[in-house]
Amino acid sequence: MKRIALPQNRIGTGHAPGKVILLGEHAVVYGWPAIALPLNRGISVEVFSRETASGSYLDPPRSNTPQRIGLEELIRTASRALRCPVARLGVRISSTLPPAMGLGSSAALSVALVRALAAYHRLPLSDTETSNHAYVLECRFHGRPSGIDNTTVAHATLLRFVRGSAPTFLHSRQPLPLLIVLGKQPRATRTMVETLRQRQAHDPRTTEAAFARIGTLVDAATHALHEGDWNSLALCMNENHSILRALGVSTPELDVLVERARRHGAWAAKLTGGGGGGAVVCLCPEERDRVQRRFTEEGWTCWPVDWPPRQGGLHERPATHGLRIA
Ligand code: MEV
Repeated sequence: MKRIALPQNRIGTGHAPGKVILLGEHAVVYGWPAIALPLNRGISVEVFSRETASGSYLDPPRSNTPQRIGLEELIRTASRALRCPVARLGVRISSTLPPAMGLGSSAALSVALVRALAAYHRLPLSDTETSNHAYVLECRFHGRPSGIDNTTVAHATLLRFVRGSAPTFLHSRQPLPLLIVLGKQPRATRTMVETLRQRQAHDPRTTEAAFARIGTLVDAATHALHEGDWNSLALCMNENHSILRALGVSTPELDVLVERARRHGAWAAKLTGGGGGGAVVCLCPEERDRVQRRFTEEGWTCWPVDWPPRQGGLHERPATHGLRIA
């Protein structure tokens, strides 16, 4: 086999945040709009030639990263997408993002890996190019996703997404105060997407009407965000959850979390991402600390997310990519 001369003593680094879908998941697969934003947790990747780092090659900790496809295959796919040499590279992954919760861990890994590889090979990439390459990796994880996850994660901003179109970056008049609550069951995106596909085949009229209503809610939510009108946004999010529930995408656990969030003081709560498990996103314009404390006392994991990100602390966005000399 021909040996490829790789740049030695170089470490390419890439970072990407997770994402939370505020409204519109599933309907977005069928061409309806959705709104999403980046999380203040993410995944960092380092790539280096194995010769350089002999002995220090680390497999990512199993519990901490999506593991459905092997890293070797991911690197091969990303290298082909970037048209750079397919070679045996070492990879280190560190993650603060809970995997399999519908919070974009596979998209964050894909974007961070594309960025790290591009930095290693000194290839300049725009966020749009990064997103397009990461989509190829996302297809290895999820079949044929809408592209909302890689788009949100690569651009790392609040946006409105319609499949096949460039995203529209949104402005929120007031800081958007959210709380993410993790369920104990992993999300089941593929199964839920398939369930809805079958449902649409059997009952196209009802399913399309549900998606169309979600589209209307996304439009109203876009306006509410622009105006900083949290009352209207809360109504949209709560109805969106009810529709997803009626479509069979929620679970008893997610419904309990949604119901408790509202009881604890959230103005709205809904499942986020693929459903069938995963996490809930709550809108908490008042007493977010109290809602968070209540969930924590009950044994749930949760943390606050703001858009725009707060200055300082957890919300600071790390550099997206870079190159170090080992
Ligand atoms: C997954 O984060 C969002 C879904 O709408 C699937 C997709 O958009 O491909 C459920």
